[in-house]
Amino acid sequence: MDNKHERLLAMIGGSWVAQAVHVAAALDLADMLADGPQTVDEIAGRTGANADAMRRLLRALCTVEVCHDEGGDRFGLAALGQLLRRDHPASLHAWAIWWGTQLWRDWGGLLHSVTTGEASRVQSTGTGGFGHLTADEGAAAVFHRAMAELTRLSAVGVLEHFDFAAVDSVIDVGGGSGEFLLMILDAHPQLRGTVFDQPHAQPHAEQRIGQRGLADRCSFLAGDFFHSVPAGADAYLLKSVIHDWPDEKAGIILQRCRAAMDDTARLLLVERVLPDQLDTSLEHRDAVRGDLTMLVALGARERSAQCIGDLLQGAGFRVVRSQPIGMGLTLVEAAPV
Ligand SMILES: C[S@@+](CC[C@H](N)C(=O)[O-])C[C@H]1O[C@@H](n2cnc3c(N)ncnc32)[C@H](O)[C@@H]1O
Repeated sequence: MDNKHERLLAMIGGSWVAQAVHVAAALDLADMLADGPQTVDEIAGRTGANADAMRRLLRALCTVEVCHDEGGDRFGLAALGQLLRRDHPASLHAWAIWWGTQLWRDWGGLLHSVTTGEASRVQSTGTGGFGHLTADEGAAAVFHRAMAELTRLSAVGVLEHFDFAAVDSVIDVGGGSGEFLLMILDAHPQLRGTVFDQPHAQPHAEQRIGQRGLADRCSFLAGDFFHSVPAGADAYLLKSVIHDWPDEKAGIILQRCRAAMDDTARLLLVERVLPDQLDTSLEHRDAVRGDLTMLVALGARERSAQCIGDLLQGAGFRVVRSQPIGMGLTLVEAAPV
């Protein structure tokens, strides 16, 4: 007998891992174990958890290489668990919390989204788009930290493939807490930049700008990219923004960018590009997970290279080049036509 049942059963119940990792992050287990293994009683005491339940969670986390069983009722961090430390340079701590809270609820409404084509988040938060972040400061803080974590992992690829030495000013449109722009400014001391986003991002961006000591070259501007985008920069970044919106709205954002740019400026779009033919590889599973996440969260989508090119063309751009930059993302450089 083959193992079809085992494989399907593992898929049906597979979401347990997301919650186990989320709880590890929510209880800051990785920070607690950063200096070395501890006993279950110590861990339970410090987290205020039930010792028996904590032991079972730790054992479960060992099976997915987040924790390591040291024997003697002691548990430590395995390699993946290190990435849940808040202070790790490639931390995914906030992303685990964002996934286990907001995205978990959004995915719980996949049936609604597939039936209607709409975001299920509207049902759980009562508002579409990013509106709930304005009303919920705690959610906004986790969201902006989570986006910064993902962006940190991919900004390096953009720095490698675009010559920022040739430009003086950059605007990060929908830049969130500004992680992408701050990494670029760090690497290019001649550059000045603006993070352009909604007011809920402002305290997070201004805190990060201050922490990085870049207040003399970087500022935050609050606004609405459906209305207008600040004019006159040499380069406009749009990372993980277009995929947040259905075609018509994505087209309007691109038009607002085009209206803000003179003919020599460049638009740098960083997005996942959906392959034309899907296979069963982990890379393609990541891509479709991203696509369905955009559906349940925002009623939006990931796009093929052709769709991205069509949107750009419709807004008055031509694609100069497309460059995969790792982490499943592609840098699409576009110029005004
Ligand atoms: C998925 S996040 C991407 C953040 C950042 N570019 C990154 O990749 O880390 C999308 C961003 O678009 C911003 N945004 C949404 N609607 C906006 C609007 N109408 N005007 C300006 N920014 C907006 C959100 O606040 C959020 O920070």
